[in-house]
Amino acid sequence: MNDILPPESALWEWLEEKVRAVMHQWSYRNVRTPVLEHTGLFVRGLGEVTDIVEKEMYSFEDRADKQGDADHLSLRPEGTAGVVRAVSEHSYLYDGGKRLYYMAPMFRRERPQRGRYRQFHQVGAEALGFAGPEVDAEMILLAHELWQQIGLKDVTLQLNSLGQPEERQRHREALIAYFQANEDQLDEDAKRRLHSNPLRILDTKNPAMQELATQAPKLMEYLGDASLKHFEQVQAILQAQGVKWQINPRLVRGLDYYNLTVFEFVSEALGSQGTICGGGRYDYLIEQIGGKAAPAVGWAFGVERVLELVKEQQLVPAAKSPSVYAIVPDAAALPQAMALLTALRRMGVAAQLHTSADSAQGMGSFKSQFKRADASGAAWALVFGTDELARGEVALKPLRHAGEQVLYALSNIDALAARIQSPIAQ
Ligand code: HAM
Repeated sequence: MNDILPPESALWEWLEEKVRAVMHQWSYRNVRTPVLEHTGLFVRGLGEVTDIVEKEMYSFEDRADKQGDADHLSLRPEGTAGVVRAVSEHSYLYDGGKRLYYMAPMFRRERPQRGRYRQFHQVGAEALGFAGPEVDAEMILLAHELWQQIGLKDVTLQLNSLGQPEERQRHREALIAYFQANEDQLDEDAKRRLHSNPLRILDTKNPAMQELATQAPKLMEYLGDASLKHFEQVQAILQAQGVKWQINPRLVRGLDYYNLTVFEFVSEALGSQGTICGGGRYDYLIEQIGGKAAPAVGWAFGVERVLELVKEQQLVPAAKSPSVYAIVPDAAALPQAMALLTALRRMGVAAQLHTSADSAQGMGSFKSQFKRADASGAAWALVFGTDELARGEVALKPLRHAGEQVLYALSNIDALAARIQSPIAQ
């Protein structure tokens, strides 16, 4: 779990602003749900034999209430289950489908390594109540647009279709028969999953089992016409916009709630944790957790992983600096100086006050204050000299471009603000 301090936090804010702008353009609205949910929600929603539910959740028993009943609670390991719970609890789809997004911390007790943390952050988008392939495509395009806006390069899109439950069932039987016939080649993990979740064996990271997994019966061969058509329409929309993808028949995702389209955006540059974004359709989840049946599709990206890529690809934006740094030689001038700064800030000026570490020492020398002003990155120094203030004036001095200092009347701060905000020093 990480602390995020400046200047790193500025990068987070930059990304969050981009996300908000794109979500607004695409008509996705913000949703916020609690960090804690009943453990049962995740067990039912994500699947009992997923890694997350089996070993990665931070779960605890709450204090018992007066009746002696205690809730089993978990820190959310992902955002979809909570959004689905909220949507059904509030009958939020009563008048039709909804497009939602969130940016929030998630918790998984994984083995920490680069790009994998125990508290991490996701930006997620969920479109609930829409069944058509155009919404799957919209989702993928939305994520793709975010990469464009951020400037990310070399992100590949992998697509697969998991079909419908009955198609998966037939494939599952074929898969179990195939793995049983090759049981001597299965590792412990695969043996355990053989009857509970054989599809996940295809996702094995064990090099010794790659060949076996590659040769296994393909789900695609078990899909019916409707599922195939859905998948083709998703691809037709992507193609019309020049978005490229690879079909990855082994892409099964680590959560059990998916059907039809699943996808991941992957970067080679991040090593083993290369998946920056994953998602897909989950038409049965809402009903499964007890809501009124409704189709849905969504994705989430890992903020830490995307920011790692941003740094890797040197897309880091310039640091934000104040426009003006207030130099106050004598502490007696502080009330007047701070009042002026408040007024300037209300006019849209980003202003930083010089502050001394030890007030017994006074405000510090003129020179040391100018040094701080320079380090702040401000374009201007606003000097609250005692003599000037006595005359009702303040001096504005450029720090990063040529020019003399100019005196402004305290009674005319419009002119002062206009000068600070003029393009000359931007
Ligand atoms: P997920 O694939 O489990 O999907 O997670 C989505 C993304 O979160 C991953 O691709 C990765 O970038 C990031 N991520 C996951 N675990 C960690 C970790 N321990 N440290 C850092 N980043 C991590 C979901 O969570 C689904 N809820 C996505 C979804 C939304 N499907 C439908 N709607």
